[in-house]
Amino acid sequence: MGLNMAKQNIYDNETFFNEYRKLREREVNANNLFELPTLFSLLPDLEGKRILDLGCGTGERCMDYLNRGAAKVTGIDISEKMLAVAKSENSSPDITYLNMPMEDIGSLEGEFDVVISSLALHYVEDFPGVVKNVYRLLSEGGIFLFSQEHPLATCYTGKGDRWTRDENGRKIHVNIAEYCVEKRTDVTWFVEGVQRYHRMFSTIVNTLADNGFKILKMVEPYPTEELVQKYPEYYDLYHKPDFLFVKAVK
Ligand SMILES: C[S@@+](CC[C@H](N)C(=O)[O-])C[C@H]1O[C@@H](n2cnc3c(N)ncnc32)[C@H](O)[C@@H]1O
Repeated sequence: MGLNMAKQNIYDNETFFNEYRKLREREVNANNLFELPTLFSLLPDLEGKRILDLGCGTGERCMDYLNRGAAKVTGIDISEKMLAVAKSENSSPDITYLNMPMEDIGSLEGEFDVVISSLALHYVEDFPGVVKNVYRLLSEGGIFLFSQEHPLATCYTGKGDRWTRDENGRKIHVNIAEYCVEKRTDVTWFVEGVQRYHRMFSTIVNTLADNGFKILKMVEPYPTEELVQKYPEYYDLYHKPDFLFVKAVK
C-alpha cells in the first residue's frame, strides 16, 4: 500500500537542505530548547539494544544512541544529501545508514528492540502502514518512540493568517481551521510546497492502539517561565505546541 503513495524528498532540494542545516546549526532553536531534551528524557535504557531510526537525517541521534550503549543502530532516510552528511560526520562500524523511505521498512530483515523517529512521521502519508511494520520489526516488549509536528501545527494549510495579533503585532491566539479534515497540508518552509500530512491526535493514538501498541507516555513540550523570560518569542508555544512525542510499547 505504502509503495504506491506519494513521497516527497524535500531535504534533497538544494535551497531547503542548506537552510535547514543553517537552522539546526543555530545554538538557540526549538530543537535544542524543547525537542532534544524531551527526546532524551523519554529514551528507554539503550544498553545493548538494536535501534532503528526512521528519518535519521544527518545521523547525530544515531551517534547519540550508540554513545548511550546501543549495540547496533540502523538509520534510514529518504534523502541522499542528509545521509551523505551522516556518513561523513556520524559514521561508526556499529551504525548502518540506508537510503530508503520509511514506507518501505517492510522489506527490512531482522528485529529491533527500539524504533525511534524524530520529526519525520508527519512527512508520511501511510502512517498506518509504517506503524504496522514497526510493530512487526520490534521484539516483544520493544519500544516505539517518535516525535512529529503537533496536529495543531500540521492542520495549517498555508492559507490565511496563522495567528491573530494585537495592535502591536503580538500573537494573541492561533487560528485553527479544518482540524477535523485529515489531508496533505502544503506549507512554505524555506521553499514553497513542503508536503506534510495532517492527522488528528485521536487518529495517531488509535492507529497505535489498533496495531497492538500500548501507549506509555505522550509529551507536548512547552517552555518554562525562565525560558520564556530569556527567549520571549517562545511564549507562542503556550498557545500551540510545535511537537508531539509518543512513547509506546509492543
Ligand atoms: C526534520 S528532519 C529530522 C532528522 C533527524 N531525525 C533529526 O531529528 O535530526 C526529517 C528527516 O526525515 C526524512 N524523511 C522525510 N520523509 C521521509 C520518508 N518518507 N522516509 C524516510 N525519511 C524521510 C528527511 O529526509 C529528513 O532527513
